[in-house]
Amino acid sequence: MDPFIFLRQQVVWAAALVALAASISLAAAEGNAGRGAQIFAAKCARCHGRGGKGDGPDLVKLQSAVSPDDWTDKESNQELTDSFIVAMITKGGKANGKSRIMPAFADKLNTQQVQDLLAFIRAMPK
Ligand code: HEC
Repeated sequence: MDPFIFLRQQVVWAAALVALAASISLAAAEGNAGRGAQIFAAKCARCHGRGGKGDGPDLVKLQSAVSPDDWTDKESNQELTDSFIVAMITKGGKANGKSRIMPAFADKLNTQQVQDLLAFIRAMPK
């Protein structure tokens, strides 16, 4: 075989492999509840409470008229859809017709971190 053609084939194969690996890593954007717990403790617990019951100390400080749901309660948790949870986290309360006290985290958390939080919230009810 012409060595130049052989080399070109190798390059095509390498490009195909890179594309495949990229699509696999995209598909693997599943949430990790353990990492979600760490993000929750750092960024959410002050309002949502350490245990996710919707009783964080900053709600009083900010004179919040509404309390978030108790995510440890199975029924309350199930009433929330994945898309609503993600929309609340990324766009905040105001954009979703809810309390403006709930901040938007779109520029502070990446897609993976939002999925990690979602997985953690879903793992709360016992
Ligand atoms: C400064 C206080 C504050 C912080 C910080 C905060 N939230 Fe909220 N969040 C709220 C309030 C208040 C509501 C209730 C909004 C309403 O019902 O009008 C809420 C509502 C929500 C909801 C909708 C479901 C529910 O329980 O009402 C989700 C999901 C949510 N927050 C996720 C998060 C996550 C995840 C974080 C951390 C990345 C976070 N929040 C940080 C105050 C906060």
